[in-house]
Amino acid sequence: MNYKLFGKTGLRVSELCLGTMTFGTEWGWGADKETSEKVFDCFANEGGNFIDTANRYTEGSSEKFVGEFIHSDRDHFVVATKYSLLDRKNDLNFVGNHRKNMIRSVEQSLKRLNVECIDILYLHAWDFTTPIEEVLRGMNDLVSTGKIMYAAISDTPAWVVSQANTIADLRGWTRFNGLQVEHSLIQRTVERDLLPMAHSFDIAITAWAPLAGGALTGKYLLKKEDATRLKETSERLNARNQLIVAEVIKIAEEINASAAQVALRWMMQKPQVIIPVVGATKLTQIQDSIGATKMQLSAEHVARLNEISKFELGFPHDFLQQQGVKDILFGGEEHKLSNHRL
Ligand SMILES: NC(=O)c1ccc[n+]([C@@H]2O[C@H](COP(=O)([O-])OP(=O)(O)OC[C@H]3O[C@@H](n4cnc5c(N)ncnc54)[C@H](OP(=O)(O)O)[C@@H]3O)[C@@H](O)[C@H]2O)c1
Repeated sequence: MNYKLFGKTGLRVSELCLGTMTFGTEWGWGADKETSEKVFDCFANEGGNFIDTANRYTEGSSEKFVGEFIHSDRDHFVVATKYSLLDRKNDLNFVGNHRKNMIRSVEQSLKRLNVECIDILYLHAWDFTTPIEEVLRGMNDLVSTGKIMYAAISDTPAWVVSQANTIADLRGWTRFNGLQVEHSLIQRTVERDLLPMAHSFDIAITAWAPLAGGALTGKYLLKKEDATRLKETSERLNARNQLIVAEVIKIAEEINASAAQVALRWMMQKPQVIIPVVGATKLTQIQDSIGATKMQLSAEHVARLNEISKFELGFPHDFLQQQGVKDILFGGEEHKLSNHRL
């Protein structure tokens, strides 16, 4: 396993992050404690130190299991958890991005994880109601009081994150060093604005559902027995996505790898550092996914995957890529600029 710097920090995290939304059976498709521990131990024994959980996952079981599994060597692991999603129904202040919920949620997570400090705290999803200054100031106070080490953000529009980090930098507050987004061969729309934004602010990208919840392992297309999490009507199994999965399977056969490894490797070989947050309900699944750290895709295979999964960038990106527009922006001399920016 290799390691990456976590955004604009000196923190070193493994190139794969272990997603633990499947730790606990409360949601109907997770793993029991014994299996979760086997998955965790396998990941840790292969050098994985980066663990992803959330207050909400499996109604708290995920954090509790993680707390137990890291206990004997707590400082070795980099534990990321999240706040924002509900801990109690029908109570407006037990959800949301605001300071009261942030502090309450963090206190509860510290207890469930049985740690004194959370390494990385993500805002889980943008609520479009809390002022960004309130979030930043809350995160800053949590860093100052030693409750968290680093701040990060997930499922939030690029303009909000860029506004936040600009304010944080100007005020000397803690900034977001991580951005978690859904990203896979069948979810590439984050390439429009979120990934370039993260690149320009030196924010680490962690990709959730890198296997599209199992779709990219090929098991739904090949109708394997253990494919149960996704319903037949899932968008992840639509006609476009089945073409992508078929190409992934084909390439996997050509290089004697698994489809999951090909799908993960595709994002690990991008020029921008992207850390897949892989989930598993079985030991064999995490063993398979870890195989992605020990292989390479050729340029031809990457090109085929990019082609089959291509998507419309939309305005203004498509417009700005037009030759006519480039001509009037560069006076027809664009080719002479050797250090052209993205
Ligand atoms: N920030 C957010 O909003 C957000 C949202 C969702 C998830 N997350 C994080 O991202 C993590 C990963 O999400 P995810 O579980 O949806 O991701 P995923 O890695 O795309 O899917 C994982 C699922 O795929 C199946 N699978 C995995 N490896 C396999 C293999 N080698 N062969 C066959 N099947 C395999 C398993 O499901 P089955 O065994 O049931 O088929 C497994 O639970 C979560 O644990 C969580 O930490 C974050």
